[in-house]
Amino acid sequence: MTAPRTFSAVFLDRDGTLIEDRGNLRSPSQVEFFPDTVRALRLLQKNFRFFIVTNQSGIAEGTVQAAEVAQVNDHVVRHLARAGIRIERVYCCPHRRVDNCGCIKPNNYHLCMAAREFGIDLGKSFVVGDHPHDVELARNSGATGVYVLTGHGIKHRKDLPADTLVTPGIWEAAMLILERSGCAEPRRKPSTETKEAAAILKRGGVVAFPTETVYGLGANAFDAAAVARVFEVKGRPRFDPLIVHVSGLGQAKSLCADFPASARALARRFWPGPLTLVLAKTKRVPPIVTAGLPTVAVRMPDHPLALSLIREAGMPLAAPSANRFGRISPTTAEHVRRQLGLDVDLVLDGGPCRVGVESTILSLVEDEPSLLRAGGVAVEDIEALVGPVLRPQVDPDCPSAPGQCPQHYAPQTPLILRERFDCPPETVRAGLLAFRVPRDQDGFTAVEVLSPAGDLQEAAGNLFAALYRLDAMNLDVIVAERVPHRGLGLAINDRLGRASYCSSGVGMTRETT
Ligand code: TXA
Ligand code: MG
Repeated sequence: MTAPRTFSAVFLDRDGTLIEDRGNLRSPSQVEFFPDTVRALRLLQKNFRFFIVTNQSGIAEGTVQAAEVAQVNDHVVRHLARAGIRIERVYCCPHRRVDNCGCIKPNNYHLCMAAREFGIDLGKSFVVGDHPHDVELARNSGATGVYVLTGHGIKHRKDLPADTLVTPGIWEAAMLILERSGCAEPRRKPSTETKEAAAILKRGGVVAFPTETVYGLGANAFDAAAVARVFEVKGRPRFDPLIVHVSGLGQAKSLCADFPASARALARRFWPGPLTLVLAKTKRVPPIVTAGLPTVAVRMPDHPLALSLIREAGMPLAAPSANRFGRISPTTAEHVRRQLGLDVDLVLDGGPCRVGVESTILSLVEDEPSLLRAGGVAVEDIEALVGPVLRPQVDPDCPSAPGQCPQHYAPQTPLILRERFDCPPETVRAGLLAFRVPRDQDGFTAVEVLSPAGDLQEAAGNLFAALYRLDAMNLDVIVAERVPHRGLGLAINDRLGRASYCSSGVGMTRETT
């Protein structure tokens, strides 16, 4: 007889681990996921089953109702399901500690239940949480605990046993779990196409490649002539500097005259990922890359193809987004082909980009960090790590950094923000770019919804593709709704604002040609 198959699991605390801890949550609208929850779970989902284990003593205390907690849990499960992540079960203890129940963490009642019902091998499983109870729960169950410093993590750190595994957040916890369980993927061998792309780059060619934000148009950052071709293909003015993409921290440091502690902390936390750091440059970086500035923008993209390409080519890649200057950024290989066609030597196809808006750009040149562009990492998360970030006001008529060019990311069709616009007149073919499903869509020829559930990450992921679709419809005007101005909402609103710049006085009749 063969032994029944067993599985490894990760038992996840809810508040402060998967989502922000805001006390007793009574409604789904109060739920805010940490920016890397989804990608952390994606990293683990091949090798682990997921469970949520949460103490909700507010129910017994009467501060929140069981039905409200259930609604919030449902929302969390559904949000993750939409991102392709399956939670097997949510175990929720509604009691107070003084009730002496068996199911309140750190008691192992729920984990034993999962072991029985789902064939989980607790010895090969992990518990992730922001409270010492989570670590104790792991110990009481024969599992491994990983303590995260989000939520209440920092506050209770001093109460932990000395040998506890501690990570800054869920992303690092996921990496640690992979490593500990021996599941870490060996570095992927470059494909034939990646090798071909690397060979083109070594010869001074330009290659479009996927990143987690948008597709980039890359050239050898040390080859001034190759970089000049990037400017040419893109139709980009030479005064607008490029981001240099690296495959590791060492390579980033080799481009920078100084890599201060704040840069190291940010890189450790957000790389690979959608954060670009502007730092003083070394002489190795040719002036054409930085448009003559004494600083260089560096980032390590979070995409296996991009990283594999940089490694195989053996050089950092100077790359702007792979669109014509001022136009919509591409989030699929098809977008790139449509805009740049035969002007690029090769387009590496890595499917649709996960994040969907460009990286956040942060300058660390002055004493205080300053935000040059809102993007894929929420500025709130940066501030949680390095303190206040300056947000310089940009004068649209006189941008101080070239990347602040007011008109950018624009479709061919005029785009107007909804607050400046009522219902379209009958003679006008108008498209609506809505955040959630709109109550009133009368008069619109086409409607694109960025996130039916009102999730900013999902909205960012859909933004440019939705704009491309509307732009292809031969409309007179695109009317866009702003999204809530927090987290990734800053980046989305920034792109919408710039896409709409200069469009406000647009005539409302379609040219007939
Ligand atoms: O997500 C991204 O950042 C994408 C992908 C391909 O990595 N790249 C991207 O590049 O959006 P691009 O060229 O479209 O935007 C880069 C911005 C520019 O607006 C530029 O002005 C700014 O970065 N930048 C580059 N170097 C700079 C520097 N030394 N100082 C200030 N801003 C800089
Ligand atoms: Mg918690």
